[in-house]
Amino acid sequence: MIKKFTLGNPIKTEAVVESVAPRPLSDFPFMITTGDKTVITFTLESSDAVYGLGEAVRGINKRGWIYESWCSDETNHTEDKRALYGAHNFIIISGEEKLGLFIDFPSKIEWDICYSGVNEVKITVFGSDMDLYTVSGESERGIVRRFRKLIGKSYIPPLWAFGYQQSCWGYAKQEDFISVRDNHRKRNLPLDCIYMDIDYMDSFKDFTVKKELFPDFKAFADDMRSQNIHLIPIIDAGVKKEEGYSVYDEGHAKGYFCTDKDGNEFECGVWPGIVGLPDFLNRDAREWFGSQYKALTDMGIDGFWNDMNEPALFYSVDGLKKADKKLEELRDKQVDIWSFFKMKDAVLGIQNSMDDYSSFYHYMDGRKVCHKDAHNIYGAFMTRAASDFLEKELGKEKALIFSRASYIGAHRGSGIWFGDNFSWWSHILLNLKMLPSVNMCGFLYCGADLGGFNSNCTEDLLLRWLALGVFTPLMRNHRALGTRAQEAYQFEHTQWFSDVLAVRYRLIPYMYDTFRRCAEEYDMMFRPLAFDYPEDDMAREVEDQLMLGEECMIAPVYEQNRNGRYVYLPEDMLLVKLSGENIVKEQLGRGVHYIDVRLNEVPLFIKKGKKISLAKPALNTAELDADNLFEVDFT
Ligand code: GLC
Repeated sequence: MIKKFTLGNPIKTEAVVESVAPRPLSDFPFMITTGDKTVITFTLESSDAVYGLGEAVRGINKRGWIYESWCSDETNHTEDKRALYGAHNFIIISGEEKLGLFIDFPSKIEWDICYSGVNEVKITVFGSDMDLYTVSGESERGIVRRFRKLIGKSYIPPLWAFGYQQSCWGYAKQEDFISVRDNHRKRNLPLDCIYMDIDYMDSFKDFTVKKELFPDFKAFADDMRSQNIHLIPIIDAGVKKEEGYSVYDEGHAKGYFCTDKDGNEFECGVWPGIVGLPDFLNRDAREWFGSQYKALTDMGIDGFWNDMNEPALFYSVDGLKKADKKLEELRDKQVDIWSFFKMKDAVLGIQNSMDDYSSFYHYMDGRKVCHKDAHNIYGAFMTRAASDFLEKELGKEKALIFSRASYIGAHRGSGIWFGDNFSWWSHILLNLKMLPSVNMCGFLYCGADLGGFNSNCTEDLLLRWLALGVFTPLMRNHRALGTRAQEAYQFEHTQWFSDVLAVRYRLIPYMYDTFRRCAEEYDMMFRPLAFDYPEDDMAREVEDQLMLGEECMIAPVYEQNRNGRYVYLPEDMLLVKLSGENIVKEQLGRGVHYIDVRLNEVPLFIKKGKKISLAKPALNTAELDADNLFEVDFT
C-alpha cells in the first residue's frame, strides 16, 4: 500500500505516474521535523537492513555510511564518496516489518544510515517542499513492485542493444571505427555497436560531425548498418557559445539557455570552452533540444548516450575570474602552507562548485527556479528531451538511449551507465552491487564501463569483468583517452575473449525475455539473495552474488590471480560453466562450495526445477537464431 505526504509546494519532478491523495503528516510513520531543512529520523534493530539508493558506493545493504543525493560528476568511485551521478531517493527498511520510503525532492538529501549512530537513521532533506511516499508490503520484492508501479514502466531498448558494444574516448576518424569493426570480425569476436565519443564532433559542438574526418557521414553510418553495426554518438549537455553555430544561435534567440540572477545567459566552461546550458526544465526548451537529435537520426543514427548532464561544470566565467584574483594576490609572494592551500583551493574549487549551481536559473512551468533547488532532475530532463524525441521519430523500443546523470522517472525513457570507473578489481564488485540497487529504482537497462574507464586494464581483469558483463543489459567496453588499449583483440588470448563474448550471444534470448518481463511486471532483474531467501541467515549477508530472473544465480570471480571462488548456494543448484559452445554442468547441494572458473568461462547457477534457453553463438544480434534454442535445465 502507498501513502503520500505532501510538504509545501513541491517542484514537479514527474517521477511518479500514479495519482495518490495526500494524507496528513500526522500519519507519517517516522519522526519528522520541518523547517528550512526537513529531518526524518528512526532507529533500527541491529539485524535490520536498508536497501536501495540506486547508483551509490558501498554495499547492497546500505548501513554504515552517509550518502548524498546530489548528481555529481565524480570520477573517483571510492568508498569514501557520498554521491555519484544519479539521485535515486528510494530505500527499503527491512526487518520484522518492511517499509519503502521515496523522497520526491530534486535537491540535496543527506542519508545518514547508521553512520553517526550504529542503529540510527537520519535523513536530512535540504528544503521544505517535497512529496514523501511510504510503500508497505510483505516482502522487499513486493515493495519494489508496488513502488515501480507508482513510478511507471521501465524503458525497453531494442534487442540489438543487448549485443556487445565497443567504445573508447579517442576513436576519431572513420578508419578507427572500421578498424574496430574489422578487428572484431577477423577474430570471431561478436559486436553490435561502436560508440562515438566527443572526438567525432566539430569543435565539441553537439549535433555536428567533423567534416574532415567524416566526409560523408550518412554513407558511412549506412555502410556500418549494412554490416550490422550501430554507431552510437555521445551528446553533451552544454552547447558551445559560438555565433554562426545554428544550435547555439537558435537556443539563444529563443531564450532557451539558463540565465543568471539578472536574466543574462549563464556562462560556464566544458569541453568546447564557454557553453550555454539548455534549460531542460522548461518544456519548450526541452522539446527544442530533443528535436536537434534529428540532425543525426536523419543520417541513420538510432542510439545515443547523454553525458556531462549533472551538469558537469569545469568552471563558470565568474568563478574563473574569482580564482584568477586569488592567484593574483599571491603573485611574487612567498607561498607558505596556508597560502599554498588557498592557491590549491582557488584552482580546484572552480569545478562543479556549489556557488555556481546556486547562481543560475530555470523557467519551469512559469516559475523561476534556482538550479540548486532542482539540480537532480537536470540530467534526467535532458535525457527525457532525447527519449521523447526518439520515440516520436523512430518509434517505441527502436532507439538506444542512456544517460550519465539520472533521477527516478528517467527510467521510463532511458537507461543509465555507471560513469567513469577505474580498471580496478574492486570495481567489478561495485558494478555487481549497484545492479539490484538501481533495479529497485526502476533502472533496468544499465551497465558499467567494462574493463574500467580510467587507468590501465589487464587481460585477466577484462576477462573477469566481461564474465559479469555477459549478464548486464548494457554490455559495453569503454575507456578514457590515454589509457591502455582494451578492445578484446588487443590482448594475447583472443580466443578466450571470443569464448566469453559467445556466451553473451547464447544468453541474449533468455536475457532479453527476462528483461522484458521485469519491465512489464515492475520486477527486478537482479536481486540480493536476501530478497529470495529471507529466512536464510547466510543468504541475507551475501554481497557478491545475485539472483537473476526466476531461474538463476550469478557469482563472478572478482579478484586477481584466483582460479575460482567460494560460492554460497542457498538451495541445490546446477552449476553451468559456459565457454564458447561448451557447457560443463555439475549439480551442487546447498552450502558453501569452492568452484574453479577458468578465465574463458562464465559460471551460472540454475535453480532446481528451472531451465533456461540458449541460442547458438552469433557474431551480432541480427544473425542470432532465436528459433533454434537449446534448453539447459535442472529437474
Ligand atoms: C566523460 C564520460 C566518459 C567520456 C568522456 C569524454 O568523462 O563519463 O564516458 O568518455 O566524458 O566524452
